Amino acid sequence: MSDESEVIAQAAGVNVRLATVDDLDGIMAIERAVFEREAWSAEAMRRDMLDANCYYLVGELVATDQIVGYAGLLCGAGSGEGDIQTIAVTPTVRSRGLGRVMMADLIAEAGRRGATRLFLEVRADNPVAIGLYRALGFHEVGVREGYYQPDNVDAVVMKLEPVPGGPATRSLGPIGSEAIGEWPKDGAC
Ligand SMILES: CC(C)(COP(=O)(O)OP(=O)(O)OC[C@H]1O[C@@H](n2cnc3c(N)ncnc32)[C@H](O)[C@@H]1OP(=O)(O)O)[C@@H](O)C(=O)NCCC(=O)NCCS
Repeated sequence: MSDESEVIAQAAGVNVRLATVDDLDGIMAIERAVFEREAWSAEAMRRDMLDANCYYLVGELVATDQIVGYAGLLCGAGSGEGDIQTIAVTPTVRSRGLGRVMMADLIAEAGRRGATRLFLEVRADNPVAIGLYRALGFHEVGVREGYYQPDNVDAVVMKLEPVPGGPATRSLGPIGSEAIGEWPKDGAC
């Protein structure tokens, strides 16, 4: 069993580790501030965090242990595919690499769970998040019109396939992995 306190990755001044339900208040403070009317309820977030098919991370400031970001994956072992459930970084800590580091670890976990495809939905009016996802190898595969209500904003559906580290890439040697672009050349994680 994983040790939740173990540091999985680092961004500038921030440690990334597995989330526990003790982190729920810190996560919900960011969730409500960032997503406002679209914020999940604490109960929905708690249920997702405790779901064995999910994998949640938090980023906390090295100096104070304050939670400044979180990200979640839904990927049942054997299902062959996964979904990025959520990701947010508190505004004062953005553009330090935390979002990219957490996304890279969610992708790696999806690969470890045997996913070959990873999906996400993002508001069409969110160029920062879309830029991050593209940089990690996702591309647009569809649009859900008016998905975000009451703002009536479209959702862009994005897909990453194959998932680095997943079954479709595991049997390839280094040369084969390079040939299919195991990681974006601009240097994810
Ligand atoms: C999207 C989000 C999680 C990114 O987190 P972050 O820690 O700031 O991101 P990073 O510092 O790791 O930057 C990763 C990439 O995002 C993009 N990005 C980050 N800040 C940006 C900015 N101010 N303008 C444009 N692109 C930006 C870039 O592509 C960047 O890659 P680069 O560092 O190689 O240039 C964060 O902006 C956020 O919480 N937004 C609000 C919540 C949200 O939109 N969640 C996604 C819902 S689908």
